[in-house]
Amino acid sequence: MELKEFNFMGYPCFIVKLNNEVHAYLNYCPHKGRPILHDGYQILQEDKIRCPFHGAVFSLRTGELVQPPVSKTPCPDPCRLIRILLNDEMKPVGAEGELRMPRLPENK
Ligand code: FES
Repeated sequence: MELKEFNFMGYPCFIVKLNNEVHAYLNYCPHKGRPILHDGYQILQEDKIRCPFHGAVFSLRTGELVQPPVSKTPCPDPCRLIRILLNDEMKPVGAEGELRMPRLPENK
């Protein structure tokens, strides 16, 4: 498993290589719009990522939520990672969903 960050149109993104699959996502947790790759994120079972803020877990193969966040605020529907579309040369060409800028909490 390999993970690398990159920028697409000014938005932070990451690409993951899982055996022979390659996926790219916006570095944005749909729960509260935090950067999912912030300090403390975890990779579980090689193909899942846990957000460091409220613990939501997403599949790195599909972007789907596999474990909801521990929070009073529910995850908006749909609650999934935003996929970045790649061309044959692995260059980003678009997104499945609206590109959004992740934000850290205001009062830390
Ligand atoms: S912002 Fe990611 S789980 Fe809440």
